[in-house]
Amino acid sequence: MAEPAGRHEAILEVRGLHKHYPLTQGIVLKRQVGAVRAVDGVDLDLAAGETLGIVGESGCGKSTLARLLVHLERPTAGVIRYKGEDITKLSGRALKAVRRNIQMVFQDPYTALNPRMTVGDIIGEPYEIHPEVAPKGDRRQKVQDLLDVVGLNPEYLNRYPHQFSGGQRQRIGIARGLALRPEIIVADEPVSALDVSVQAQVVNLLDRLQDEFALSYVFIAHDLSIVRHISDRVGVMYLGRIVETGKDAEIYDHPTHPYTQALLSAVPVPDPTAREHRERILLTGDVPSPANIPSGCRFRTRCWKARERCAHEVPPLAVPAAFRDDRSPAAHDSACHFAQEKHVVPVEPGPVV
Ligand SMILES: Nc1ncnc2c1ncn2[C@@H]1O[C@H](COP(=O)(O)OP(=O)(O)O)[C@@H](O)[C@H]1O
Ligand code: SF4
Ligand SMILES: [Mg+2]
Repeated sequence: MAEPAGRHEAILEVRGLHKHYPLTQGIVLKRQVGAVRAVDGVDLDLAAGETLGIVGESGCGKSTLARLLVHLERPTAGVIRYKGEDITKLSGRALKAVRRNIQMVFQDPYTALNPRMTVGDIIGEPYEIHPEVAPKGDRRQKVQDLLDVVGLNPEYLNRYPHQFSGGQRQRIGIARGLALRPEIIVADEPVSALDVSVQAQVVNLLDRLQDEFALSYVFIAHDLSIVRHISDRVGVMYLGRIVETGKDAEIYDHPTHPYTQALLSAVPVPDPTAREHRERILLTGDVPSPANIPSGCRFRTRCWKARERCAHEVPPLAVPAAFRDDRSPAAHDSACHFAQEKHVVPVEPGPVV
């Protein structure tokens, strides 16, 4: 089928991706009593050279999605196509070749780096698995080049992780992610563990590296304000599924899913006048457990727009009708039955169903 107008060829296509962890009871005789639906039907596309931001509250399945994308785990169901080929069934040499091209940067630079290894060994470790990328004699120079690229002194290669600050450690993690010259980097909350003052520096570094190395990013965050600076498109995740996706400006200026509207209303606004006029939506209730996802629309227990229909019918991730005529089909999708309604903030927000 021909791609819709305005949509680039995807380097990564994800369809119907699920990861369910068995929920067991009993210590000796374990019985499966249910499943934690950590990732529960994710569809997404990543175009070459673009940054897709994925945002959602803690526990909504972001890290599980990241691990599936880089093949650290296998999905329960669904496909991940890299340049058109489903990589979920690959093994052996074919899998190794694909893994080289899709690398991960982890959330917590304090625990992700082995404290007993030197920085040189940490960054060069991927070459042990892929010696074809750098023969032994070239590795020291390659590692020094990578340190330089991420803004660290190339002479630091004999130091240990504890001798670095959090921001510097994340730079080491990024250098390691770049070692094999991947095409895609999945960055799982790469700045969440860092001081606010260094967050922007690391985001700027990733931004610069994207141009320099022609990278495509999946950039995960729990806060919409962080991904705004770096993303071309944004996907908002709730309980294992993407509930709204669209171009950066579409999501920020015309959010159509009530969950996105609530998340955006909590983003700090620097301008005091704009702040005063802003509508604040307070989400009530806790996020339901992924072992017990509500029927119909999974957001309905916290949604102030929820009606009868929402309890019975799952809203598909579809283009809001109001936007169909004047926007490209790829511009904006929302998994809400009432996405085309004008956004009105309730006087007393709270779940209806
Ligand atoms: N290996 C696992 N076994 C069982 N449950 C898991 C496992 N990994 C994650 N989960 C559960 O899946 C859900 C999503 O977790 P995660 O992907 O870490 O979310 P996020 O990164 O958005 O905080 C959580 O409820 C978490 O407890
Ligand atoms: S489908 Fe219903 S419950 Fe779900 S977001 Fe829309 S209005 Fe809220
Ligand atoms: Mg996480």
